[in-house]
Amino acid sequence: MSARPDSSQHDRKKITVRSLHEKKQAGEKIVCLTAYDASFARILDQAEVDVVLVGDSLGMVVQGHETTLPVTVEDILYHSQMVANGLSHALMIVDMPFLSYTSIEAALENAGLFMKEAGAHMVKLEGGADQVDIVSALVQHGIPVCAHLGLQPQKVHKLGGYRVQGRETRAAEAMLEEARILEQAGADLLVLECVPNELAEMITRALSIPVIGIGASAACDGQILVLYDILGLSMGRVPKFSHNFLSEAGSIDGAVRAYVDAVKSGKFPGKNHVFS
Ligand code: KIV
Repeated sequence: MSARPDSSQHDRKKITVRSLHEKKQAGEKIVCLTAYDASFARILDQAEVDVVLVGDSLGMVVQGHETTLPVTVEDILYHSQMVANGLSHALMIVDMPFLSYTSIEAALENAGLFMKEAGAHMVKLEGGADQVDIVSALVQHGIPVCAHLGLQPQKVHKLGGYRVQGRETRAAEAMLEEARILEQAGADLLVLECVPNELAEMITRALSIPVIGIGASAACDGQILVLYDILGLSMGRVPKFSHNFLSEAGSIDGAVRAYVDAVKSGKFPGKNHVFS
């Protein structure tokens, strides 16, 4: 058995940063999922998932920790190398783990490692205005960046739990402003996690870069979920914003394809998966 993609898909174009921007302009939904190994990555790639994120969620769903904080640069590098072996079309984003971007030097060194040794196409980091210098430095050195606002799981202890962010007017205004600042700093993509529906829609309309929601809004330019949640594999409580696609589809491949169809057609997320 091989994790290599099959040759019947050779006509499909590779997803690039540019094609993601074009999808936003064309109003075409961007489908994203996490993956942590080559076999799952191949299934996602063949189901035409556009973006595969090697998320630090691997600390929870693969390693069994309670938070993403214990995940190391070495863990992410190892899993990214495996995921890259399963992809031939999707764009691979690699998450910068907790405390791996505390200075411009550290961010460049670690993001550089993911680009050079795992073939990452983009890196993702959590944070707003506090990360602007890091985002600009990465972009200036040719490293595309996906920013991440709303619930930032690496700040779980500071936030006092996994909660919806931006419900109060001042917090909502601040998030919109931070999204604009990150776009100006050169971010090419923005993930919004656990953000009220209306605010997520407002931010999506305000930015020219694609905005990807998770517990955000159907109006976002695309959606992302944790693969193990849609397959019913995650330990503990499954978040309200997710959905088990395997129970209806009956196979892993079918579940991933059902998720792709649901995002592309605008059926997912439904009213039950977003916050007011
Ligand atoms: O680590 C992860 O999987 C993520 C997604 C939930 C966006 O950051």
